[in-house]
Amino acid sequence: MPPAEILIARSSIAARVRALASALSTAYASTAQPPVLISVLQGSALFTADLMRSIAIDMAVDFISISSYAHSGSHSGVVKIVKDVEIDLSDRDVVIVEDIVDTGLTLNYLRRSLTERGPHSLRTITLLDKTVRRLVPVPVEFVGFEIPDVFVVGYGLDFQGRYRNVGDILVVRDLARLVNEPDLLVGSLWPRRGQRRQPT
Ligand code: PRP
Repeated sequence: MPPAEILIARSSIAARVRALASALSTAYASTAQPPVLISVLQGSALFTADLMRSIAIDMAVDFISISSYAHSGSHSGVVKIVKDVEIDLSDRDVVIVEDIVDTGLTLNYLRRSLTERGPHSLRTITLLDKTVRRLVPVPVEFVGFEIPDVFVVGYGLDFQGRYRNVGDILVVRDLARLVNEPDLLVGSLWPRRGQRRQPT
């Protein structure tokens, strides 16, 4: 069994991102001011970049970075903003951009925090949604793909900071093995220079 397999190929991601961008362009075509996309670092960096490139209306983008405190190895829902947005969000139409919504704890915190700043509207777009893992109900208005409870890397999603630059979304079948061998996927993803086929 290969250690990782493609769950969502880059061509499918690209097509879905274009469709999501089209939906956003329509939804925010006649707002008083351009909508503000808030990219939640770090995972949503690739998604945000591709999404905004395909958005066909005037828009603004800003970035927020948060850290979550784990209790006993699990997500506690206690989240701290480590880099805040710089745009004044009062009366703006705000769209939170996530790579994945899992338990919903991060998004729930973010929504509460951003609501306090008085936006005209607040919605969320996520590339991946793992509703099966949800611990708190939280609205997600735009969803790329619903996925099962599997461990995924690629297209911004990481394992210990690695594999974010893989173009496809991969499912890791043997997470315990990856924990023991963090380089496990490297050889098949990026064959070493000496092992590459010579160009013909
Ligand atoms: C991921 C993702 C969300 C959060 C979702 O971030 O980008 O922010 O987890 O999980 P939740 O619904 O269970 O709260 P992560 O903490 O992996 O950080 P990263 O984006 O920097 O990789």
